[in-house]
Amino acid sequence: MVERIPSGIDGLDKILCGGFVKGSNVLVAGKSGTLKTSFCLSYLYEGAKRGEPGVFVSTEETEDDLIEDARAMFGWDLRDLVNKRLIKFVSMVPPYSAKETNDVEKLIKAYVNDVITSIASVSQEIGAKRIVIDSVSMIEMFIQNRYMSRIALMSILRNMKSLGATTMVTEGVPEKQMLTGDEALVEFVVDAVLKLDFVPSARDTRTLTVSKMRRTNHSTLIHPFSLSPGGLRLLEIK
Ligand SMILES: Nc1ncnc2c1ncn2[C@@H]1O[C@H](COP(=O)(O)OP(=O)(O)OP(=O)(O)O)[C@@H](O)[C@H]1O
Ligand SMILES: [Mg+2]
Repeated sequence: MVERIPSGIDGLDKILCGGFVKGSNVLVAGKSGTLKTSFCLSYLYEGAKRGEPGVFVSTEETEDDLIEDARAMFGWDLRDLVNKRLIKFVSMVPPYSAKETNDVEKLIKAYVNDVITSIASVSQEIGAKRIVIDSVSMIEMFIQNRYMSRIALMSILRNMKSLGATTMVTEGVPEKQMLTGDEALVEFVVDAVLKLDFVPSARDTRTLTVSKMRRTNHSTLIHPFSLSPGGLRLLEIK
């Protein structure tokens, strides 16, 4: 029997046979503004409500900004959950160097190693059951070389698995297309891929598609997806 982890997104678990596979890693991919970060915050908020601590690793935003976003969008008090050690934010901004350095490889290795050890130590400290890395795009951009990026991401994901938590990572997708084939870096090394999209129209439409989830007989439909004051919601397709 596969153990499932509730996603924290209203309506989503129903199309995933109950939720994410415990111990798996899930990629949330989408263009800018498709609610990837909000999705991750919802995932950790759900965990905290259930007494499952979570770590939010951000390569882009500050803890204060993320807490304020969750308050403004959903009315959630994440500060209180941080104080209760149910959520911990970790900033892992890549060390972009303004000046040319000959030792880029060394810089990359040190950063990847730092990401792995920091997540491991924070996860152990609070007994994390859920981990978020938002986003791996910043790590890819920092490393630049596709081969090196892939190795680094695989290594990070493998380490997350060894911690026993269920991990969610996000990846930005260029405005014009969803990544496929050679362009996609992480899609092939994760257990599940959820794609978020946003189609501006007369009535703005946000969508969610499950394009892969191992061990799960999931929906393959394009589901309408919306933001409501209480949280994110997948609309039922009748
Ligand atoms: N208070 C709010 N009420 C309604 N919608 C909001 C509110 N705040 C933000 N939004 C919507 O959420 C979007 C940002 O969501 P989020 O940060 O989760 O997206 P993202 O996919 O992580 O973006 P990025 O790729 O830039 O990181 C905004 O572009 C806006 O459409
Ligand atoms: Mg984001």
